[in-house]
Amino acid sequence: MKPSALTAPKPEVPRRRRPRWARIALTATMAAAALGLSACANLGGLNLETVGQEDQTTYVKLALNQTEAHPSYIALDNFSERFAERTDDRWVIDIYPNEQLGSQQEVLQFVSSGAIEMAIVSGTQLENLNRDFQVLNMPTTFSDVEHQMGVIRDQDIVGSLFDSLEDSNNITVIGGFTQGSRSIYTADGPLRVPADLAGQKIRVQESDMHIRMIELMGGAATPLSYGEVYTAIQSGVLDGAENNEVSYVTQQHHEVAPYWSYTNHLVGLDYMIMRSDLREAMSEEDRRIFDEEWETAMVEHTELWDVETRESIERGEAAGATFTEIDQEAFQEALAPIADEFLTTDYQRDLYDAIRADDVDSAGEES
Ligand code: GCU
Repeated sequence: MKPSALTAPKPEVPRRRRPRWARIALTATMAAAALGLSACANLGGLNLETVGQEDQTTYVKLALNQTEAHPSYIALDNFSERFAERTDDRWVIDIYPNEQLGSQQEVLQFVSSGAIEMAIVSGTQLENLNRDFQVLNMPTTFSDVEHQMGVIRDQDIVGSLFDSLEDSNNITVIGGFTQGSRSIYTADGPLRVPADLAGQKIRVQESDMHIRMIELMGGAATPLSYGEVYTAIQSGVLDGAENNEVSYVTQQHHEVAPYWSYTNHLVGLDYMIMRSDLREAMSEEDRRIFDEEWETAMVEHTELWDVETRESIERGEAAGATFTEIDQEAFQEALAPIADEFLTTDYQRDLYDAIRADDVDSAGEES
């Protein structure tokens, strides 16, 4: 197999996107890698000794499972634009939305193996590499988006966790985008209390903790990748799923499960991950620019989040979906045992306590 050249002479006309045929070819390469069909050690072919050089453009592939209308795509696209501009096109980050490069489970492996360079993955994916990430995926951990975004910028709290996959998996966690507050949506009428979930099959992300989360709330959980949820509900294999309003509407899940019930059971988190060896290979100056622009991307994403949440609700309602306030406390009570079940080591308990205490610090009192 011919490795795709990721460092190439700088084009005269700055090229921020690969043509569609190249993306399709790349997707085929990724699929082959997923099936273990590749004989290449380094599918990406990225020569780390020459990345970021003056007379070259280094093309970086970033995998995303959202549509182009999602705030994550918008913030990443602007990030890519600014990074290219500030490095005179020595770095071009190509964003591949819509699971073009594979599901999050797959792209996590591609970043680790060096087949691609960056990805946005949900925290649930990282807990399968290091269970300590579960602490940040747990229903009771974050009070709200503001609390969450403060915590993930606090190196004293998350620094060692974010570096923990470097030696084992060649993955560095750069930072995060909020997933906002997640609730349950179903095909057959809104929920009122946990008992209404009895016998209902609800899709969850690929996470032991989230399987348990649905069980505690009274339903039956089925782990499935994001891109398969619509068809699974449409065909009646599943009765519903859980997510935020933005994903609910951008993925058009409201068409097949129009009843949104505000369980608000979890404030979820996505991570920006990057090959550690690539980050190491960047010059100090480029890394500084990258980090500055990434900080701007996180701020922009959080601002967009509120606006897009409101607009998603409007779009969902206009299309016939209903958003119902329900007995949230009953669901929260049902979830209370989860912390004891999943915080099993001293490190995990300390991390959880530090995160909760951080909310006390910012709000003056625990919310
Ligand atoms: C959100 C999140 C994604 C995640 C998805 C899911 O949309 O941003 O990263 O994959 O939920 O439920 O799978």
